[in-house]
Amino acid sequence: PDRAALERAESLILEVPDYPAAGILFRDITPLIADGPAFRATVDALIAPFAGTFDVVAGLEARGFLFASAAAYASGAGLMPIRKAGKLPRPAAKVDYALEYGVAVVEAHADFPRGSRVLLIDDVLATGGTLIAAHALMAELGYEVAGTSVLFEIDDLGGRAALNDPQLHTVFHS
Ligand code: PRP
Repeated sequence: PDRAALERAESLILEVPDYPAAGILFRDITPLIADGPAFRATVDALIAPFAGTFDVVAGLEARGFLFASAAAYASGAGLMPIRKAGKLPRPAAKVDYALEYGVAVVEAHADFPRGSRVLLIDDVLATGGTLIAAHALMAELGYEVAGTSVLFEIDDLGGRAALNDPQLHTVFHS
C-alpha cells in the first residue's frame, strides 16, 4: 500500500462528539473517502492480509458498503451486501443484534454456494455487535468467514474481545 496516503487517511477520520446521541464519539470517514489516494490505500490495506483466501466480500450497510464494494472490485471477488431490516426483496437469512446506540437486524440473500469463503468488511468496530451478528448470519447461510477487516477499531469498547475472531484485521485504531 501507499504508506504516505495511508498515514494521511488516518488523519482524515474525523471525531464528532455527541453524534448520533449524547456521549457517542462518532468517527466520520467521509473526508477520507473524499481523498482518492487515501481511499485507495485504505482499501488496499483492508484486503492485503487476506489475498487469495476469500471468494466473496461482504459489506455492512451503510458505510461498510463503500469499502466492501471497492475491495470486491480490487480483488475480483463477488460482493454481498449485508442489509439492515426490511430492505431485501427476496427471502433472506436474518439475525437480530444490539448496537452501541439502539437495536438492529442484519439480513442477506443466499446468493452464493454454501461453503463460500467470505471476507467481512466494515468501517468501524465499536462494541462488535454488528460484526458478531454478521458472523452469525454467515453461519446461518452456510458460509465460512475467511476474515474480518475493519478500517477503524475503537479499542475501549471491547469489540475485539467480544467478536473473538483470530482473523480480525483493523487498519487504524484509537
Ligand atoms: C456503525 C458502523 C458499524 C457499527 C459498529 O454503523 O458503521 O457498522 O456501527 O458498531 P458496533 O461494533 O457497536 O456494532 P451504523 O449502525 O451507524 O450504520 P450506518 O453505516 O448505516 O451509519
